[in-house]
Amino acid sequence: MANAFYRPGRQRAAKVNELFDRIAARYDRINDVQSFGLHRCWKRRLVRLAGPRPGEPALDVCCGTGDIAFSLARQGMRVWGLDFSAPMLDGARARLQDLASSSAEPGSDALDLQFVRGDALHLPFSDRQFDVVTIGYGLRNLARIEDGLREMQRVIKPGGRLLILDFGKPSHSFWRALYYAYLRWMVPLFGRLFCGSADAYAYILESLEHYPAQPGIATRMQEQGLANVQVFNLLGGMMSIHYGQRPAGSQQPVNKVGDDVKSL
Ligand SMILES: C[S@@+](CC[C@H](N)C(=O)[O-])C[C@H]1O[C@@H](n2cnc3c(N)ncnc32)[C@H](O)[C@@H]1O
Repeated sequence: MANAFYRPGRQRAAKVNELFDRIAARYDRINDVQSFGLHRCWKRRLVRLAGPRPGEPALDVCCGTGDIAFSLARQGMRVWGLDFSAPMLDGARARLQDLASSSAEPGSDALDLQFVRGDALHLPFSDRQFDVVTIGYGLRNLARIEDGLREMQRVIKPGGRLLILDFGKPSHSFWRALYYAYLRWMVPLFGRLFCGSADAYAYILESLEHYPAQPGIATRMQEQGLANVQVFNLLGGMMSIHYGQRPAGSQQPVNKVGDDVKSL
């Protein structure tokens, strides 16, 4: 039976938005459960690969409750986190508020971090604004992956870095079968137990089946003109990080996705 949250075409974004609005309150907990806490290591790896430098501007697209945005800000970067789900952003802003009012982490109120509501396909930022753009578990959810990549590349400065963390497709057939079985049977069970919706988490496998994953994303990054494209497989390719750079000195205009750039 078709997944309630996976709709190709025009309804895609609305369904994805509905999904994350629905699971926002439990999102962090279920992430820890279903990945055995490993998503934290993978996000730390992404931040290390980004080569953060204090004072540099960074954008975390599809930031959700803000894990990656917080990590970049802790490295001294000036960070914007963007997402279209208001409840996910509420979670991120509540964390920021907690940090600012807590004395447990001295200096935490000095994080240069803000969250904005917006669409990854129409980023409300000007061209060549960021040294680092990251997207964690977001690209697979976009209605048009190529348009998402084009928008992210548009806002990166020449020489800046793009990093993409997402589910991957292991090349080893046994490993892949095991992993798909876990996504097919266990992850929806966690969804049912923690969020009251198996479909919300069965969506991961459904969306992954439509996602071009490691080689497909690397090819699309190169087609968009990104240089030095590299793929880092994690856990035998169950997860992957893509890295690419906007060529230094590249001033070519990157076409915007339509003319109606807007924030939500
Ligand atoms: C799986 S969560 C990832 C959250 C966070 N990056 C993390 O790694 O924990 C995907 C996020 O992408 C957001 N999202 C999906 N499509 C989007 C779009 N077109 N524009 C903005 N945000 C989007 C969802 O609202 C959700 O918060």
